Amino acid sequence: MDLKEIQRTLSDLPLSGIRYFKEIGSTNDEALNWLESGVQGNSLVIADSQLKGRGRLNRKWITNPYSSLAFSIIVIPSKEEINRLSLFAPLGALAVNYVLEEKYHVSPMIKWPNDILLGDKKMCGILAEACWNGEFLKGVVIGIGVNVTSASIPPENQVRFPVTCVEEHTKKRIDRLILLKNILRAFFDWRKKITKSEFLSYWQSRLAYKDEPVTVEQGEGNKVHGILKAVAPDGSLEIELEGGNRERFLIGDVRLRPLR
Ligand code: BTN
Repeated sequence: MDLKEIQRTLSDLPLSGIRYFKEIGSTNDEALNWLESGVQGNSLVIADSQLKGRGRLNRKWITNPYSSLAFSIIVIPSKEEINRLSLFAPLGALAVNYVLEEKYHVSPMIKWPNDILLGDKKMCGILAEACWNGEFLKGVVIGIGVNVTSASIPPENQVRFPVTCVEEHTKKRIDRLILLKNILRAFFDWRKKITKSEFLSYWQSRLAYKDEPVTVEQGEGNKVHGILKAVAPDGSLEIELEGGNRERFLIGDVRLRPLR
């Protein structure tokens, strides 16, 4: 990829700025700095490899050169969207899931809150971070990492959950730049529906492990077992406990595991 080619390919998308790096620490860090120093509107940071890629819960995210998509979308939420801030990471997940189904004809599922699975293995992770100035929200960074070719798959001993890549399932070569364009277009389309019931019902219908036994782990070692039931309108996860009561878990310091 190079900046000119990226700018040309993404020219009809609502982006006011694009920064491209052959190699970077983390696109989320660059995007947060950009937000701090002032950004015009929706913007994009993209890199062909990351040396300090970050995941949720302070985990490391590996981006091998030219094998993945590693990008961060900067958005300035409207007043209405500020009430739905927790839905920006799932918005990224919905966009990736939708594009893979519609354009690449594979059948992904969303592992709550925002991992994308193909055949029970993870191929995409999302890290959303907000930038505040006291009470004032400067913007949100939605960092998306997609494993595209087999070279993107880290060694087994470096991951906690089995990993796959898009090409393993499409069985044909994927153009990373076109995939990026498709994901960004879906992201801005689904963003218009973030406050609508269609958003929640799509997410619900693509939820991995629905009606299956799962373990939810909060903080250090606090585990809850139950049946995964649904996502609530605020994005929290509803688990049915033994005895039938339901408990809700907010997106945050929570890990979800299937009990298979
Ligand atoms: C996770 O699964 O824990 C989230 C992974 C998020 C990785 C992406 S890659 C682009 C952006 N830059 C980062 O440092 N992290 C996100």
